[in-house]
Amino acid sequence: MADKHLNNVKSESLNFKGGEPGASRHGNFINYYNFHSADERIQQLPQGVWQTNKFDRKYIALDVGCNAGNLTVGLWNYLANQLPDVDVNMLGVDLDGVLIERARDSNENLSISYKCLDVVSDECDKVLNDYLKTFERNKFDVIFCFSITMWIHLNNGDEGLVEFIKKICSLTDMVVIEPQPWKCYRNASRRLRKSGNHDDFPLFKLLKIQGDMNKWIEDIICGEDCGFKRLLATNHNTWGRKVLIFQKNHNNNNNDDDK
Ligand SMILES: C[S@@+](CC[C@H](N)C(=O)[O-])C[C@H]1O[C@@H](n2cnc3c(N)ncnc32)[C@H](O)[C@@H]1O
Repeated sequence: MADKHLNNVKSESLNFKGGEPGASRHGNFINYYNFHSADERIQQLPQGVWQTNKFDRKYIALDVGCNAGNLTVGLWNYLANQLPDVDVNMLGVDLDGVLIERARDSNENLSISYKCLDVVSDECDKVLNDYLKTFERNKFDVIFCFSITMWIHLNNGDEGLVEFIKKICSLTDMVVIEPQPWKCYRNASRRLRKSGNHDDFPLFKLLKIQGDMNKWIEDIICGEDCGFKRLLATNHNTWGRKVLIFQKNHNNNNNDDDK
């Protein structure tokens, strides 16, 4: 079972040295939300783009890399507020079993579920499709990917990042994504080297996708294979990240301007 295997992924404590987070291989920091408030990212989200075009009054969301669930809960509250007459359901997935236990322990909301799942693993499709089937759906209304693309990229290379993006685009018509800037890659790699407890990311030096990560990710999502268009990009938040929102392009229109 995926859960049993992944429970062995050990959460990393988040230590700040000179204002920088500590070393990690997957970004599975145990005290992440002590340092990065979920609220600021929720406040960046726009109004009025979340309507479901289905007739079943349900809205089904996926939060990829949900950590201990703080942002997941914030996102659920936000969506429930935006869609008052709709039954909002949310699945949070993370490869770290300890973080998922934490998220479950503090969860009192029956509309939010958590699963221990590596989204680049073979069982990913089945787990997500099984969840969707319980709502008689084959797609999520939205998939959130906050601060996870770098970890997937560093551990799975360019191909892994592209495959991941293609996968989420096949599972929804709306993607909300907060890519880590390139400088975070260098910092993550340096910290891992300096920690002495880990090898570096072996694929880091081989990455050809580098530099303006917002642009790269947009090019992949809006490319022919995925076929999305950008609805908007927020301003940078206080820690230098933008949230990009993409929607399946059924009309082949060009991108809208920045918000
Ligand atoms: C930096 S945290 C971001 C947490 C949350 N998305 C946020 O922005 O508040 C990245 C999370 O992604 C998870 N993660 C990294 N690689 C993953 C993978 N392949 N599958 C599932 N979760 C993953 C980590 O365990 C970690 O909890």
